Amino acid sequence: MHQDCERVLITEESLREQVRRAALAVGERYAASNPVVVGILKGSIIFYSDFIRHLEIPVTLDFMAVSSYGGGSVSSGKLRMKKDIETDVKGRDVVIVEDIIDSGFTLANLKALFLERGARSVYIVTLLNKRGRREYDIEPDYNCFDIENEFVVGYGLDYNEKYRNLPYVGVLKREVYEKN
Ligand code: PRP
Repeated sequence: MHQDCERVLITEESLREQVRRAALAVGERYAASNPVVVGILKGSIIFYSDFIRHLEIPVTLDFMAVSSYGGGSVSSGKLRMKKDIETDVKGRDVVIVEDIIDSGFTLANLKALFLERGARSVYIVTLLNKRGRREYDIEPDYNCFDIENEFVVGYGLDYNEKYRNLPYVGVLKREVYEKN
């Protein structure tokens, strides 16, 4: 385990199993509609790449990068788009793949955005859900793991852009983020 982590919260084996199940559920639901599977950068990158490899249906892949500034307790905040998808989602089923839902700001805004653009449906898949932190009225349609309000890194998640490449989800030592 990385020295900056206090413990492994979710092992590689658990991740593999739950991600496979998520892909099975989505694959059954959208077997015939060639959904647009949108990964939200950067946090979802590892989850996304594992997830799509278990999907045995035709899919269109695309990516979006947004900033969560304005999230948290600032309910009037707006989502800032850093990179948009290239696919026209009008009439398409959209599957959003996101690493974590916290306040819900990002996903509430993204769902509204895709519906506004004419998507036929929007289905949200999350790896991690911090239920206790929700401030917006939005829930994932499929979530892999419920977690407490702990500082988690790895499997795509970062602290100051570090630790994204850890193959497990770990809890960051308090001293690491409190010294900054
Ligand atoms: C994280 C995460 C979600 C968002 C969740 O992104 O990937 O997009 O925060 O928080 P919310 O539910 O309160 O909106 P972050 O801005 O850290 O970017 P990153 O994915 O590039 O790490």
